[in-house]
Amino acid sequence: MTEESSELSDYNDRFDDPSEDPLFNFDDDDQDRANIFVRKELLKVGHVPESARIVGRDDEIEAVAAELQPIVRGDPPNNVMIYGKTGTGKSLVARHVTERARRAAESNDVAAATVYVDCAQHNTQTRVARTVTRALNEPDLTGLNIPRSGIGSGEYYDYLWEILDAAYDSVIIILDEVDRLDDDDILMQLSRAREAGKADCHLGIIAVSNKIEYRDRLNERVKSSLREEEFVFQPYDANQLRDIMDHRRDAFHDDVLSTDVIPLTAAVAAQEHGDARKAIEILRHAGELAERESVETVTEEHVRDAQEWAEIDRFEELLRGSTTQVKFVLCSLALLTKENSGAEAFSTSRIYERYQTIAEQLDANTLSEHRIYELLKEQAFLGVVESTRTGGGRGQGSYLEHRLVQDTEIVLKSVLRDSRLEELA
Ligand SMILES: Nc1ncnc2c1ncn2[C@@H]1O[C@H](COP(=O)(O)OP(=O)(O)OP(=O)(O)O)[C@@H](O)[C@H]1O
Ligand SMILES: [Mg+2]
Repeated sequence: MTEESSELSDYNDRFDDPSEDPLFNFDDDDQDRANIFVRKELLKVGHVPESARIVGRDDEIEAVAAELQPIVRGDPPNNVMIYGKTGTGKSLVARHVTERARRAAESNDVAAATVYVDCAQHNTQTRVARTVTRALNEPDLTGLNIPRSGIGSGEYYDYLWEILDAAYDSVIIILDEVDRLDDDDILMQLSRAREAGKADCHLGIIAVSNKIEYRDRLNERVKSSLREEEFVFQPYDANQLRDIMDHRRDAFHDDVLSTDVIPLTAAVAAQEHGDARKAIEILRHAGELAERESVETVTEEHVRDAQEWAEIDRFEELLRGSTTQVKFVLCSLALLTKENSGAEAFSTSRIYERYQTIAEQLDANTLSEHRIYELLKEQAFLGVVESTRTGGGRGQGSYLEHRLVQDTEIVLKSVLRDSRLEELA
């Protein structure tokens, strides 16, 4: 018997009954927790809702569909560009409409296919060409075997034209996060394929981006060959967000959500960003908080806590990559604000004094006042801090005062999540 398997048998001896395994055992308390969610997966990031749950985007869905409509009759579709802030349903609508167009075309005996490419992941011409080509290849029809590596974009394109001719009448390619491509030549290649006599199949492109300024970056040649229709998705308003969440209510047990939970989540999210992803996340987190407290209803209080948690998360994200010293500085300013009720803005030297006590308390290296001043200026540049020049009294020079832009508690809670600052909590 090898050493490994004898260890395993020891282990088996100890837990004859796998339900006794302490690693995976849950006590009755935990069982109480299970009463909030029935289908939590409906609220998970990455969950793709079925069409009945897509609400509040009817106009956009129709508008995009109208551009793709020709493929159903075997005619060339128009190219589409969808812009809009994060969480406004761009990816969802693009996938949903494309899939419906494909089905409608097929039921009309048009050989249609769709490909979805996440350009954040496949950000070079070769990667996109490979993804599209491999996704569309039907070896039974084409007799081709597309290599995974070892060839360049040119060779992938050659395969692609051959595949398109052999297997399809129409193909729609979604290029999501298109601004992440390191080269927009791919847009040229795809949009000019037919014109250039490369392939006889109709190719439609739906490009999606949350950077409005992307269009200005596109070069003229690409623009004129794409000739796309543009749509801008606006942030959701409170009613739309409420609708979206209402259609996922069945993630929860009946009667678990108190009446105001969804409207409040919608109102808060609409005010802050109109981002459906964030709204759903806050709703899920509110449910998790209730679960953790082993209570039977999700209340407004849970929503407010979940909302705060989301803000702390967002702020932490903003601070990701900042040095500990930056966190010391922000912490000093937050503590000063907290300790001096009423005052919001503090001079560099006040902040420096507070910073010194923190650095000492944590046994950390203390930087010079000038360096702290520079760090504050950097944070002002990033929009975390606001610095204004204040005229001193008679005979005094003017000096800079700094205040936190973000809520003090949020700043404090996010910097204190860093284990190196924990002691200050
Ligand atoms: N109209 C809607 N109905 C139902 N769910 C929606 C709707 N719009 C967005 N969602 C949900 O919100 C989340 C974000 O939507 P989506 O991924 O389409 O946003 P996006 O505009 O592509 O954002 P990003 O720019 O960050 O990629 C998804 O989980 C999606 O299921
Ligand atoms: Mg998206």
